[in-house]
Amino acid sequence: MKSALFIQKVRDIYQEASEFIPLHAPVFSGREKEYLIETIDSTFVSSVGKYVDAVETFGASYTKTKKAVAVVNGTAAMQVALRLVGVRPGEEVITQALTFVATANSIAYNGAQPVFVDVDRDTMGMSPTALKNFLEEFGDRQGDKVINKKTGARIAAVLPMHTFGFLCRISEIKKICDEWGLPLVEDAAEALGSFMDGKSAGSFGQIGTFSFNGNKIITSGGGGLIVTNQEELGLKAKYITTTAKRPHPFEYYHDELAFNFRMPNVNAALLLAQFEKLEAYRQSKSAVYSAYKEALVEADLNLVPVPETTTQWNHWLISVQLESRVDRDSFLKETNAKGVMTRPIWQLMYSLPMYDNCQRDEQTNAKFLEERIVNIPSSVI
Ligand SMILES: Cc1ncc(COP(=O)(O)O)c(C=O)c1O
Repeated sequence: MKSALFIQKVRDIYQEASEFIPLHAPVFSGREKEYLIETIDSTFVSSVGKYVDAVETFGASYTKTKKAVAVVNGTAAMQVALRLVGVRPGEEVITQALTFVATANSIAYNGAQPVFVDVDRDTMGMSPTALKNFLEEFGDRQGDKVINKKTGARIAAVLPMHTFGFLCRISEIKKICDEWGLPLVEDAAEALGSFMDGKSAGSFGQIGTFSFNGNKIITSGGGGLIVTNQEELGLKAKYITTTAKRPHPFEYYHDELAFNFRMPNVNAALLLAQFEKLEAYRQSKSAVYSAYKEALVEADLNLVPVPETTTQWNHWLISVQLESRVDRDSFLKETNAKGVMTRPIWQLMYSLPMYDNCQRDEQTNAKFLEERIVNIPSSVI
């Protein structure tokens, strides 16, 4: 009954000609074709070109950070960010279990181990209380290092994630990180366009990272962005994502093992056109959310409200909270069978074989949300 009414309401909002309503479809309503054709005509389709420069300038200015570096995807952005703040093999990074797998993978790619602390119920992002409790129980300050008393490994960084574009309690997390001398990297893959009191997601810690995967609010096909307020880190990010090649008129000399993670100019051309539409898309998605607000009361569904942390939300993915796992599963089954795409929030990272032996706390809120949260169609209209 719930899902039948819901399906009707979604169809009213989207008024799609087609039967299938996706969760989040990309929209190319700006200058994408023009920029792409220009890029092809220029032959600068690969790793250098004016669009790469333009998106880096736009990205830094939009997020109000000093430096932005465009890369191949959001996962690579995080992998590099963690390395730049000093994460090394055998060390640990504190993150959340309720996240997309890329967050944990970016830690593992550095040869490090994730440690999972709980999230807050309202933001669905890392809980500062859980972080503080974990550090008080297991953190042992040894000189300028923090050692995990249980494992003996160095805790090298903290990596919270801004779920569905909601900011986690990032100012409090930053304060705790500063007290413990731990670098803070933000997985802001989903949060471009979200702000807390005028400060962009991704701009609170040493480094923030974004994704431009096809399902994000704006896309470059595949792509990512590293942002930082520390000039030095920004320059280093550019350097190690471009194979650590020393500038020289003709010689190839690379002074450390680095990556070819540069965003190609052809992707950047697409991205610049998308950046120019970001505000319009955010507003359109806000109208979708308002429509849901009215419609879902009638359908007796609980729309997840915007937490107080997020003074401007990008409205990336809208979600509802079901009453139980059983309720959730039947809602997912019925909506998807009828061509209205819905998806559950992620399975907790420690339920995946790669991360099942990672240290974690009680995960009370993460478990609660895992059983109940479902994303509903959230595309631009
Ligand atoms: C929370 C989160 N982190 C990281 C990523 C990774 O980004 P990408 O797919 O661009 O590698 C994504 C999305 O794809 C994400 O949702």
